[in-house]
Amino acid sequence: MDKKAEEIKAMLKKYGQEHLLNYYEKMDDVHKETLLKQIESIDFELINNLYRNLNKQHKNEEDKVTPIDFLDKYKLNEKYKYYENIGKKAIKEGKLAAVTMAGGQGTRLGHDGPKGTFDMGLDSHKSLFEILSDYLKEEGKKYGVVIPWFIMTSEENNKDTIAFFEKHKYFGYQKNKNIFFFIQGELPMIDTEGKILLNENGMVKLAANGHGGTYEALVKNGMTEKMRQLGVEWVFIGGVDNCLVKMVDPVLMGIAIDKDVTVACKSVVKANPQEKVGVFCKKNGKPNVIEYTEITDEMAEAKNEDGELLYGESHILCNLFNIEAIERMGANPLPYHVAFKKAKYLDKDGNIVEPDSPNAYKFEAFLFDSFGSVDDMAVLRVKREEEFAPIKNSDDKGVDCPKTARQLYKKFYHLD
Ligand code: UTP
Repeated sequence: MDKKAEEIKAMLKKYGQEHLLNYYEKMDDVHKETLLKQIESIDFELINNLYRNLNKQHKNEEDKVTPIDFLDKYKLNEKYKYYENIGKKAIKEGKLAAVTMAGGQGTRLGHDGPKGTFDMGLDSHKSLFEILSDYLKEEGKKYGVVIPWFIMTSEENNKDTIAFFEKHKYFGYQKNKNIFFFIQGELPMIDTEGKILLNENGMVKLAANGHGGTYEALVKNGMTEKMRQLGVEWVFIGGVDNCLVKMVDPVLMGIAIDKDVTVACKSVVKANPQEKVGVFCKKNGKPNVIEYTEITDEMAEAKNEDGELLYGESHILCNLFNIEAIERMGANPLPYHVAFKKAKYLDKDGNIVEPDSPNAYKFEAFLFDSFGSVDDMAVLRVKREEEFAPIKNSDDKGVDCPKTARQLYKKFYHLD
């Protein structure tokens, strides 16, 4: 073993992860170098801490959770036009960019390929990426601008995503002029003993670090810098799997500008008190999103004097940020949440194991965990049927699946 590998081995031993070099000697030089680079980039203290704290919940019993104020887009009355005009002016001035988070694994949907390449079964057979690009181009035309589009991928799907865009001539966008791709960060997956897994090639088994990794990835990859060069001040960040996502909303933008907040989020009313969604709230006086697992039935059912749920504003991953807020958030690490998943790996005898039940921990940061770092933000309630048609599951699950999304999409665009 060469000197560098020996040094790395000694370091790994300290963290109980020396098995990562089990296949090193059998590798060619290129793979050896890649593996050492991967290992050098891992924060082993963090991984060991995450393992030690696996069973600790993020919930702090001392947290004071209270309802958050929100505006209803369709109850703004004369203020609607007022906000809309402010937003329209800013969009015309080229101050808005869109970010699509497309780095997820889409395990529940089970589509072979990046989720954005999924054909949701419209007569046009358009992919999610094409649906989003059609929308953005149309909106841009209304304001006489091209809305710059930033697409976040993962190491796992970046190549396939770019190949797809290449094949479709970037849907009329121009690469590195008004469409940009960037790759999000990753963390190793670990087994139930806290050992980092190797993938079938003997490399570290890495997985995207969650949509909370978006801020850091935007900053580290020079995307916020690029946005500034383009004159962008506001950034809409949304998922790739909501085919009705409205990335260009002058009312939302007008509210953010007028109220001088750095974050403005859209919500839809919970379908019922027990719906399994995160809802906006205040935690210790700061904006936040609380998971359905964290609120009591009593809180979930509680209503105000108008009969509205006190915690009824669902977070739908439709959020607008001032560019400075993104830069600030990108500099502060977010907590990691853990998911227990099925992960193919190389065992200590060199066999590739494909488990049929979960075997590994994956760590993900959530975008909304950064909300607590802002003093105030605006929440705008919009209509579910206009803005929220997610594709999470395969059709057999019956909810948030291609079939339900297709119905909502066709209804909204009068395609039936
Ligand atoms: P989800 O949390 O629904 O995850 O992502 P997913 O990867 O699409 O699906 P599952 O959980 O594996 O079935 C919501 C949005 O955030 C993006 C996804 O691409 C989707 O647009 N995302 C999620 C990322 O960009 N990176 C991540 O690490 C996780």
